[in-house]
Amino acid sequence: MSEVALLQIIGLCVVGVGILILLFIKSMFVRVVGFVVIVLGSFSLIALGVPQMASLPPAIETFDIASVKTPDDLASIGQKIFFSKGQCALCHSIGPSESARCPDLAGIGAKLAPEFLYESLTSPQSYIYLDFRHEGVPKEYPARMPYINKNPIALSKQEIYSVIAFLQKMSGEPISIKVEDILEPESEETEVASVSVHGHE
Ligand code: HEC
Repeated sequence: MSEVALLQIIGLCVVGVGILILLFIKSMFVRVVGFVVIVLGSFSLIALGVPQMASLPPAIETFDIASVKTPDDLASIGQKIFFSKGQCALCHSIGPSESARCPDLAGIGAKLAPEFLYESLTSPQSYIYLDFRHEGVPKEYPARMPYINKNPIALSKQEIYSVIAFLQKMSGEPISIKVEDILEPESEETEVASVSVHGHE
């Protein structure tokens, strides 16, 4: 029996006891106690009736980059990361959206070179857009673009390149990220060959 069902049975018993008291006991004090017990029991039954949602931390996702054969595979991993671990969709829309608080990323893969995309993700304060829509006086975004390669999002280099591949694909751009480069063992010193990124301080 589940924990919830057990608690519900206890709640029902409590309410039942309260009703019995009201029906059969004449003492005023005990009747008040019975009434209180019915009210409290009903509240707990209602609370237990609300669907229970476990709030566990999200399962750690691993992306099987080793199974990637084509740039399209890479883009589909990137798509998953975009909507899950990368949290991009929390802020960005792809296509116009009323609720968007941040730049619309539709067509971004065609607009920006992969090097610039990489820099936008890993060094987000390099270029700040005040208001990408340019309506009226420019104003700051309510959110900040986070450092995608640092905590809490902390995507690996491979994951970042997958996201860039996805951004290129959904913009109708040929994917310029090469699978061979992604599969190279990750290390801090070796930059992925085709997309060398130079940090500007
Ligand atoms: C907390 C909100 C937030 C999250 C999460 C977020 N971004 Fe951003 N992003 C922004 C904001 C705000 C800007 C615009 C300000 C700026 O350029 O620094 C921006 C800018 C960008 C740009 C540059 C746009 C341009 O026109 O130059 C790219 C590309 C981008 N984000 C991609 C991503 C991707 C990919 C992810 C997920 C891995 C992501 N963002 C996650 C808020 C966010």
